[in-house]
Amino acid sequence: MGRGLLSGKVAVITGAASGIGAAVVDRFLVEDARVIAVDVAAQSSDRPGVLTVTGDVSDAATWRRIAEAAQAEFGRLDVLHSNASMVVRAPAHELAEDDWDRQIAVNLKGTYLAVNACLGLLREARGAVVLSSSVHASFGLPGHPAYAAAKGGLVSLGRQLAVEYGPDVRVNTVLPGPILTPAWDGIGAEDRRRSVAGTAAARFGRPDEVAAAVTFLACEESSYVTGACLVVDGGWSAVKDSA
Ligand SMILES: NC(=O)c1ccc[n+]([C@@H]2O[C@H](COP(=O)([O-])OP(=O)(O)OC[C@H]3O[C@@H](n4cnc5c(N)ncnc54)[C@H](O)[C@@H]3O)[C@@H](O)[C@H]2O)c1
Repeated sequence: MGRGLLSGKVAVITGAASGIGAAVVDRFLVEDARVIAVDVAAQSSDRPGVLTVTGDVSDAATWRRIAEAAQAEFGRLDVLHSNASMVVRAPAHELAEDDWDRQIAVNLKGTYLAVNACLGLLREARGAVVLSSSVHASFGLPGHPAYAAAKGGLVSLGRQLAVEYGPDVRVNTVLPGPILTPAWDGIGAEDRRRSVAGTAAARFGRPDEVAAAVTFLACEESSYVTGACLVVDGGWSAVKDSA
């Protein structure tokens, strides 16, 4: 049972059909939020407290629909969790320009579009924004040039937005490390073993462990936290730092 940490709140969660986003939906419902669950993939639409929106976060029209739905269905918006992402793995010299553009559009521009469309509602509610970056923002890993650039951009954008929109809206960023979700489906056993071996926790993280951090940053328990980065990586970054 939750503690009602988000009681009365309305939250938009993107990338809600899978992995971390799906875990955040589950946790927010436990904490008594109502949720607008956004994904480019189809979702089941019959859960109490959940309004599903099918759409692409890199499309401004999706965000106009989301903001209109928040106003029309709930009359408010308290939390924005910008979490949807995709990756095309290739080194920069082999990455097609379209694949670069697509990753920057979904993983970085989508957050700008979200804030652009939702800021009025978030301000009215004195709301909270939580961005999903990655440890890739700080550490280079082969084959992720556009993904890493977008995730680094989100760290900067999160700080910028916190300054721009405080004191009305708090903005914070989570940086997950290796979390076992469908995003790992195409990744081989040796890469998985190496990632787990690189953590102090000696295991993959679970999506609900990131959802707990997102919940903290979304609710009043973090009322004096803004412009911050919260690393949720089982110590992966700390191990890198000491290497
Ligand atoms: N899993 C990890 O190890 C890990 C590590 C670091 C950071 N992250 C970050 O955490 C977040 C969630 O990752 P995950 O592992 O749950 O991923 P996932 O692949 O399981 O889920 C991502 C979701 O985003 C959706 N999506 C993709 N493009 C979209 C678009 N254009 N519009 C709307 N929805 C779209 C997908 O359909 C999917 O449901 C991402 O921002 C990711 O970069 C994950």
